[in-house]
Amino acid sequence: MGTSLWLCSVGADIAANANMLQWRWATRKTCRPYVDVAAWPDTTEGHTVSGHPIDYDALDEAYARHRGANPRVLRALIDGASVGATSRVLDIGCGTANYARATAAMTGSRVVGMDPSIGMLTQAAAHAAEVRLCQGSAGGLPFRRCSFDLAFSVDVIHHVPDTGSYYRELLPLLGPGSRACTVTDSDEIIRTREPLATYFPGTVEADLRRYPLVSRLQEEMAAAGFADIALETVELAYEVTDPGPYRAKAFSCLHLISEAAWREGVDRMAADLTLGPIRGVSRYVLIWGRKAATVRHAAQSADSR
Ligand SMILES: C[S@@+](CC[C@H](N)C(=O)[O-])C[C@H]1O[C@@H](n2cnc3c(N)ncnc32)[C@H](O)[C@@H]1O
Repeated sequence: MGTSLWLCSVGADIAANANMLQWRWATRKTCRPYVDVAAWPDTTEGHTVSGHPIDYDALDEAYARHRGANPRVLRALIDGASVGATSRVLDIGCGTANYARATAAMTGSRVVGMDPSIGMLTQAAAHAAEVRLCQGSAGGLPFRRCSFDLAFSVDVIHHVPDTGSYYRELLPLLGPGSRACTVTDSDEIIRTREPLATYFPGTVEADLRRYPLVSRLQEEMAAAGFADIALETVELAYEVTDPGPYRAKAFSCLHLISEAAWREGVDRMAADLTLGPIRGVSRYVLIWGRKAATVRHAAQSADSR
């Protein structure tokens, strides 16, 4: 890709405010070039799923151009965790920072976006100046205990190799009574996604294989110590008028079907669009969990600052 991401260590004031052990803040404004993408050793970490490589460093521009935050998900995250101006929020697998940026803009909260992909973080840095960014993966979250009032991920959990251990490492990062939310697709959602299921039916089987079951995630959250585990479903109907995102493969599942199946779907969609808009439905399940208040004393004493 040849792009350099400008990274630097954050100042002590920010580290103290955000209560973080170590993280790097991507910005084009102030820092020396820290790493060249081509030389970065672990840009593919966590991107290989069931033998199908999803290279997000190669998808960064398509994502930046074609993907946005689902307003229903955004509203549910903000309301569900009562996010306000003093809240500290972590977006795990933030990608181009769609959700991180919108959360910061709508609430004035302090938002950290974390992603393993330098390409995604480069796009995020270009479009989300108000969000602090760092490189990292679920499975090695680089933050101190009790750092966040809300930690969420959208469309990421199917990339996490060991979800049980992810939830175990996530719980201590939350303050007492704070919430975590995993936004993902259930089996039923995968089977009924439109226009994907109609035009790219191969994506259904591919995603049923790679997405963890919601019930399993609930069990893992409970085993990790989360309380008040609850499900919420949001739905947004919209009109598809442009095959561009599908042509650009701005959905990772389109990388899991054959070139012939993808091309056939795009051609069929483009032909149908000459007759008028196509029905689109974006649905998500939000899996909520809370760090119990009873953990408060243990967490506070362990977090001696
Ligand atoms: C489908 S994109 C979603 C991006 C963003 N959350 C959004 O909804 O716009 C998936 C993101 O997960 C990131 N990712 C992959 N493996 C990860 C891991 N183990 N931990 C955290 N993020 C990961 C990818 O780099 C990519 O940016």
